[in-house]
Amino acid sequence: MSARDDRKGQKIAGVAAGVRGHNADVTVNALTVRPLARDDLPRLSRWLAEPHVAQWWRDPSDLPSVEASYLPCIDGTDPAEVFVIEVAARAAGLIERYLVADDPEWHHAMRATGAVTGCAAGIDYLIGEPGLTGRGYGTAAISLFSALTFRRYPQADAIVAAPQQANAGSWRALQRAGYQRWWSGWLESSDPSDAGPAYLYGMRRPPSPERRATR
Ligand SMILES: CC(C)(COP(=O)(O)OP(=O)(O)OC[C@H]1O[C@@H](n2cnc3c(N)ncnc32)[C@H](O)[C@@H]1OP(=O)(O)O)[C@@H](O)C(=O)NCCC(=O)NCCS
Repeated sequence: MSARDDRKGQKIAGVAAGVRGHNADVTVNALTVRPLARDDLPRLSRWLAEPHVAQWWRDPSDLPSVEASYLPCIDGTDPAEVFVIEVAARAAGLIERYLVADDPEWHHAMRATGAVTGCAAGIDYLIGEPGLTGRGYGTAAISLFSALTFRRYPQADAIVAAPQQANAGSWRALQRAGYQRWWSGWLESSDPSDAGPAYLYGMRRPPSPERRATR
């Protein structure tokens, strides 16, 4: 799977609600991801200002700050790759991925836990529309995106995320998507979003079909 393939948008069947009866082959509420575009930034600014997001994702939400943070990702000068989560073609949230080693401070924080040793990718996510939280979309997006992230970074043997312990919605969504708790404690990070006790959740790369066959 290349980034170009990702740009076409990826659909997850698991979250699609099947309609019974004569419309049995119709699916609704399909969840997809597509690359963040410049036109999305005002919406992202609004999402970051939503109280349920601002409580945990402590980046400035004013548009100039959002542009300063995300335009480099859109034009490719920042290696982090950022996507919009869409539910039934409606923008619902944001999910991003990166190689931990690309961010020296985060790389240090992850190594300092002792739980991350090889090459790891990281993900961050939010469901920005308040009315779309608590419906399983965060879990579904993490699940879909984790599979895509392993394909995007063949050198990564794990994916990690480090929610605050008090952010139960985040770490429950990780658990439901198949992540395991690898560590808990205080991260060596100056990012305000990492303040307070955190959990480190990780998912190891699933064995490839070839490797499974030789066992
Ligand atoms: C975290 C977030 C992405 C989860 O997505 P979601 O679609 O709301 O969550 P889901 O519906 O998939 O639910 C996942 C689990 O979290 C629980 N949950 C959801 N919101 C919760 C909340 N506010 N408090 C406690 N638990 C919550 C759900 O009950 C479910 O757990 P269960 O299996 O025990 O029932 C979303 O709530 C969000 O964007 N929060 C603000 C931004 C954020 O915290 N990002 C992560 C930073 S590390």
